[in-house]
Amino acid sequence: MIRLMTRTLGGAALLLAGAMLLVLRGGPVQAQADIKAEAQSTAKAEAQSTAAPASQSFSTGDCATCHDRQVAMVQKTRHGRVDGQCGACHGDPTEHLKSNLEKGEPGPIVKLTTAKADVINKTCLGCHEKGNQANWHGGVHERRNLACTSCHSIHNFQSDRAQLKTVRDSETCFSCHAPMRAKSLRTSHHPVREGKMDCSSCHNPHDSTRPKMIKAEWTNELCYSCHTEKRGPFLWEHDPVRENCLNCHDPHGSNHDKLLVAKMPFLCQRCHISTRHPGTLYDGTNTATGLSLSNRAVEHACKNCHQSIHGSNAPSGAYLGR
Ligand code: HEC
Ligand code: HEC
Ligand code: HEC
Ligand code: HEC
Ligand code: HEC
Ligand code: HEC
Ligand code: HEC
Ligand code: HEC
Ligand code: HEC
Ligand code: HEC
Repeated sequence: MIRLMTRTLGGAALLLAGAMLLVLRGGPVQAQADIKAEAQSTAKAEAQSTAAPASQSFSTGDCATCHDRQVAMVQKTRHGRVDGQCGACHGDPTEHLKSNLEKGEPGPIVKLTTAKADVINKTCLGCHEKGNQANWHGGVHERRNLACTSCHSIHNFQSDRAQLKTVRDSETCFSCHAPMRAKSLRTSHHPVREGKMDCSSCHNPHDSTRPKMIKAEWTNELCYSCHTEKRGPFLWEHDPVRENCLNCHDPHGSNHDKLLVAKMPFLCQRCHISTRHPGTLYDGTNTATGLSLSNRAVEHACKNCHQSIHGSNAPSGAYLGR
């Protein structure tokens, strides 16, 4: 941030402005009052300074003559009030403006529409190096050369929240993660396509510290945050549940009931191939008309008897039957 500001602001205003931004991102009400007071003193300092700081060498009204849409959009957002205005992201526009007005051709300016990802990211991270963005570096999205503007836009955003390029965050994600769109259309799904959840309910697309950028230290912890009753503790645990919910569920969607990765009994028989009531096909001897009748032939869907599949607290629940 400091480097960025040095380019755009002069001397004394620099430190004050820097402090303002830091306080602002903290966000408490008291801080707002402090900011007002500081803003007044910044204005005073700027007025007293003889050399006009870069931030005063143009007014956004000048830019609006030619870029009215960009100015109008940015002024709807908090970015319309950052120190250095347009210059905070595009570098000092004085030359660009001067050349435009004097020679009728645009002078140099930082073009973020065509800039390389790391140039854009450096610009944005100058102010957004905390909170959800603190761990941007090293994440899959950074390594695969995404820019902040792969998902966000400053002048052409569509969402109500977080200035995304599409109305819904999932649409932004689907533009690259097509298989996820397909999964979200399956019969059993988290209510993402209904708009009750987003990809970012479970993922932080800026994070490099967690596996698959999920919003918890590990998968089960993520699921427990909403499905608290699955956390237990249970007297009788079911090992694969404790290990990882994804042993049986696909959070992005499934054509089996309840987001299951396979149909019963196969779901269970991926592991339980040698139970005392084996998962082999029941043949003539143990079906309804057979010699050694088996009740398991009637209710082959394991869950019908093993109801407490996520764990049981019944004293006699060792077989997860109650
Ligand atoms: C007289 C018209 C005019 C004015 C006034 C003007 N610009 Fe421009 N600007 C242009 C033109 C024309 C281009 C396209 C240059 C190109 O594509 O090479 C441009 C390009 C830009 C770009 C790069 C866009 C891209 O392609 O990424 C930015 C950023 C920009 N201007 C910012 C500003 C700012 C900030 C101001 C006010 C300080 C300003 N302009 C004032 C005419 C103007
Ligand atoms: C917070 C950073 C930021 C600020 C502040 C900012 N811009 Fe931009 N500007 C961008 C980015 C990023 C792009 C690339 C396109 C996008 O994301 O919308 C861009 C693109 C542009 C373009 C290219 C046309 C387009 O819509 O793609 C123009 C012109 C422009 N900006 C002018 C301005 C002017 C004038 C101001 C001041 C009123 C300004 N910008 C303030 C980040 C910024
Ligand atoms: C000069 C400082 C500055 C720069 C540079 C900057 N921002 Fe911001 N941005 C802010 C401030 C201040 C806010 C409002 C407070 C906050 O959310 O932190 C903000 C808010 C946002 C928000 C949240 C908007 C919302 O509606 O919740 C997004 C998204 C964002 N910026 C993206 C970007 C991107 C992308 C870039 C780079 C193209 C960028 N910013 C560059 C200062 C900056
Ligand atoms: C892969 C898409 C994607 C990329 C790339 C991306 N963001 Fe975001 N960003 C999002 C989404 C989605 C949200 C909304 C998160 C939410 O709703 O919790 C968001 C939210 C934000 C916010 C609002 C505050 C917050 O954290 O919720 C800021 C600021 C922001 N991003 C800045 C950045 C910056 C800076 C970069 C580049 C270093 C960047 N983003 C790159 C998708 C992205
Ligand atoms: C511009 C393209 C693009 C967009 C938009 C995008 N991603 Fe990605 N994402 C990628 C690429 C490329 C990878 C690496 C994929 C790979 O290696 O197979 C990736 C990987 C991921 C991963 C796997 C991370 C890991 O550790 O393996 C997750 C999770 C992810 N993205 C979530 C999201 C979410 C959520 C959004 C929307 C907020 C989003 N992505 C938007 C391009 C994108
Ligand atoms: C209910 C929580 C949840 C939601 C909602 C969710 N995800 Fe995921 N996602 C996960 C979990 C958990 C993983 C980790 C899977 C693993 O460990 O293999 C994951 C993994 C991923 C991966 C990496 C896949 C791989 O095989 O490496 C991508 C890409 C991804 N999610 C994209 C998305 C997108 C795009 C959306 C929105 C449409 C989304 N996710 C919504 C929980 C969720
Ligand atoms: C942000 C909250 C949230 C998180 C995190 C979350 N879920 Fe969900 N889950 C929901 C909501 C909301 C529903 C829909 C409930 C409804 O329709 O009544 C749901 C439904 C389900 C269903 C039932 C689906 C159906 O077809 O009826 C399963 C199974 C499920 N989640 C598993 C998981 C797993 C596994 C994880 C962890 C990877 C997880 N959930 C993480 C909110 C969440
Ligand atoms: C051994 C396989 C297996 C594992 C592992 C597993 N589940 Fe399930 N889950 C099931 C089955 C089978 C059903 C369907 C039960 C039914 O139809 O009544 C189900 C249903 C659900 C439901 C929807 C119905 C309900 O009970 O609320 C949710 C939510 C759910 N599981 C969450 C989780 C979470 C969270 C985890 C990880 C802690 C997890 N599951 C791990 C097999 C599993
Ligand atoms: C990913 C492998 C896996 C899947 C899938 C799985 N289980 Fe298990 N299950 C285990 C393991 C491991 C144990 C612990 C075995 C032990 O303690 O000897 C266990 C224990 C049990 C027990 C308790 C019996 C005992 O010996 O402690 C029952 C009953 C059971 N599972 C039923 C099911 C049912 C029904 C399903 C399908 C909904 C299922 N399991 C899916 C791995 C799995
Ligand atoms: C009609 C009810 C019923 C059905 C259906 C059923 N079970 Fe069982 N299962 C039981 C009972 C009762 C026990 C307790 C041990 C016993 O008496 O055999 C048991 C015990 C178990 C055990 C632990 C003992 C052992 O043999 O290792 C496992 C594992 C098991 N069942 C898995 C399954 C799987 C997998 C399915 C589906 C293919 C299934 N069960 C279907 C009633 C049933």
